[in-house]
Amino acid sequence: MIQQAARDFAQNELKPGVIERDEHQKFPAEQVKKLGELGFLGMMVSEKYNGSGLDALSYVLVMEELSKVDASSSVVVSVNNSLVCYGLESFGSEFQKEKYLKPLASGEKIGAFCLSEPEAGSDATSQQTTAEDKGDYYLLNGTKNWITNGNTASTYLVIAQTDRSLKHRGINAFIVEKGMEGFTIGPKENKMGIRGSDTHSLMFNDVKVPKENRIGEDGFGFKFAMKTLEGGRIGIAAQALGIAAGAYELALEYSKQRKSFGKAISDHQAIAFKLADMATTIEAARLLVYKAAWLKDQGLPYTLAGSMAKLYASKVAMDVTVEAVQIHGGYGFVKEYHVERMMRDAKITQIYEGTTEIQKMVISREILK
Ligand code: CAA
Repeated sequence: MIQQAARDFAQNELKPGVIERDEHQKFPAEQVKKLGELGFLGMMVSEKYNGSGLDALSYVLVMEELSKVDASSSVVVSVNNSLVCYGLESFGSEFQKEKYLKPLASGEKIGAFCLSEPEAGSDATSQQTTAEDKGDYYLLNGTKNWITNGNTASTYLVIAQTDRSLKHRGINAFIVEKGMEGFTIGPKENKMGIRGSDTHSLMFNDVKVPKENRIGEDGFGFKFAMKTLEGGRIGIAAQALGIAAGAYELALEYSKQRKSFGKAISDHQAIAFKLADMATTIEAARLLVYKAAWLKDQGLPYTLAGSMAKLYASKVAMDVTVEAVQIHGGYGFVKEYHVERMMRDAKITQIYEGTTEIQKMVISREILK
């Protein structure tokens, strides 16, 4: 039922205008509002905090369906659910859940997760942003890069160094509100893919963050980021799966209609074999993604499964979208047929929430330990 609701929403609400939003880098504001009304922005949050009280498997089903049509919208869903709401519900104080989680889970407000910096993306322990303890507040200074929902968000989870001598144990996570004095938002990035999503750098210049906005015990920030990203990777794996599945479905349909040398191109083995490879790898990616979500739902370790799902599904997204463009021939190279956008969108899934190389680091550490 949840999968069908997401499928209907994607077809009826996301598909119209998706090409224009990509072309003009327009944030899907109306669509995101409706996603909130459907309960898709706080899917795994308990009803007590205005969430839908669903499980991770439901969440990946929704991510997959939305991403089949519009990855710019689904990344908003992913960041709000996995990186912001999950982090706050799992590790936030009661005060933080009441004040910040509730409006984020209902979709009344949107959140952003701010870890990456100009010189600390994959190497997350090298945070240059500092938060100096001033008694009843922290003084935040630094710059964050590539922040999804950078301008649309109202609530920002910001990772910063509080004691450099303690390395990763001297890192904390803070809740920063839009409008706090000294907090400014840089221009929107002009991206290759997921162009409808809102990506900015953020500048913090002597921003006073109240003490009660620190998440967890002093020094918990790095673990907070790692734990949160672990779940986030399953969501992005589902996004990659959806992009692949969406492009495959379009290529399949096109190949049955388009004729060459007297028959449908799907009747030529050159195309039929491509479709066979696409369908097989998508199914394998799907099983990895569902398994990771299932493990999370069972309360079992899912670090390895989540990274495997993200590593594999993002490769499948890239490979399948390239083939989908190829099957469409010249039509695949123009915007009206959607697959060129999907090919551009696929690439980010190999980069954000931990690059392909980071996933291989996590996987190899897990299997070797
Ligand atoms: N859960 C809990 N703790 C963890 C953990 C996990 N999954 N992974 C590591 N830790 C802990 C370790 O136990 C260790 O703690 P102790 O010393 O107390 O035992 C500490 O963290 C440091 O661990 P490592 O020595 O393994 O750290 P590292 O520097 O080697 O880094 C890494 C590990 C996996 C490479 C990590 O830095 C990482 O994941 N990097 C990628 C970051 C990333 O995904 N960036 C993308 C930004 S978010 C984004 O894209 C958002 C968006 O808008 C879409």
